[in-house]
Amino acid sequence: MTIVDLAEFGADFTADPYPYYARLREAGPVHQVRGADGGRFWLIVGHEEARAALADARLSKAPATVGVTMLDEEVVGPNLLVLDPPDHTRLRKLVAREFTGRRVEALRPRIQQITDELIDAMLPAGRGDLVDALAFPLPIIVICELLGIPAADRDDFRKWSNAIVAPTSAESESDAVHRLRGYLDELIEDKRCAGPADDLLSALLCTRATDDDRLSAAELRALAYLLLIAGHETTVNLISNGMRALLTHPDQLAALRADFSLLDGAVEEMLRYDGPVENATVRFSVAPVPYGDTVIPPGEMVLVGLAAGDRDPARYPEPDRFDIRRDTRGHLAFGHGIHFCLGAPLARLEARVAVRSLLERCPALALDESSAYEWLPGLLMRGVRHLPVRW
Ligand code: HEM
Repeated sequence: MTIVDLAEFGADFTADPYPYYARLREAGPVHQVRGADGGRFWLIVGHEEARAALADARLSKAPATVGVTMLDEEVVGPNLLVLDPPDHTRLRKLVAREFTGRRVEALRPRIQQITDELIDAMLPAGRGDLVDALAFPLPIIVICELLGIPAADRDDFRKWSNAIVAPTSAESESDAVHRLRGYLDELIEDKRCAGPADDLLSALLCTRATDDDRLSAAELRALAYLLLIAGHETTVNLISNGMRALLTHPDQLAALRADFSLLDGAVEEMLRYDGPVENATVRFSVAPVPYGDTVIPPGEMVLVGLAAGDRDPARYPEPDRFDIRRDTRGHLAFGHGIHFCLGAPLARLEARVAVRSLLERCPALALDESSAYEWLPGLLMRGVRHLPVRW
């Protein structure tokens, strides 16, 4: 089987990977690939195969099963995304007790208030960067308040978490992981001394399952790390990718402005059409996994293509059309199976509030295409660093 060299696709691939994924999909749902750094792995690009892979126990999330070590697991501790059952089941149960739908719904008025304040601050300028003005600050303020992290520390987080999800060098990534670990240790210690409080981190410190099981210090630190990073790097790109899609499709924009009952469907289509997570986090084959004539042997790294799967014409007719009324059920933007995104209700709530508030308060909102976009590097996240708009 030929190995596909992603480096040969060039910079176009980062800016618009969809035509490349379409060509690969036409040739088959599963490919052996070489990444830009020379590493070899398998990439799943068909929707049906991707969905099945996300729920396949032969594709482990635990690097140790194939003798691999991961920087953040080593430094910070084991988080949900590097664990298989029964460890994953135990940890997820403890988190799910505290990170409930009720806790998220209770945030609604505060999310609206933060959004209103951010829009108030941006309006006088008439034009600016939507990422800086709203898409970035909204999710980071929300996740920091949810976890109980002081406002003054938010800028440090922006730097560290950016360096972790879209690394520009191994040194800067390692430095950011170590700094974040040190910060979280101090924060957790402060909260332990301060006693019970209303935030999620304090609740997680105290939580016990019915069998009296509780989180260890390393588990709590690793969980806080995952929630912080997963909680804002993704939602930023849902708001910015989603608004970019809407503003480049005037008919869809007009339909939504005319009827906000289409809002929830529009956000789902934003997730399907150009979601924030291009490929799921890495999996490792622990047994042969066949896809037709192609067999992934044990001991291999596997990436499940969420963006590729969600543009599969076998699942979504005319997949490259952005259509806020389409049936988006089964989209892969939040993953699938036991690792399905724990923060999906929060991300959906933030995006719905942000998109609606922007459209209501900025009747002339439009893209300001003064310069080329700067795309996030790597295969994990999909998004732009800045989104110039005018209103
Ligand atoms: C639009 C925003 C978001 C998107 C597109 C997204 C996407 C995803 C995806 C695709 C996964 C599964 C990864 C895999 O299987 O390899 C995942 C897992 C996860 N997400 Fe999100 N996420 C978003 C927002 C959030 C938020 C706001 C939080 C928390 C506050 C969060 C917390 C998590 C956690 C803890 C997991 C791991 C779950 C597990 O392994 O059991 N995410 N997310």
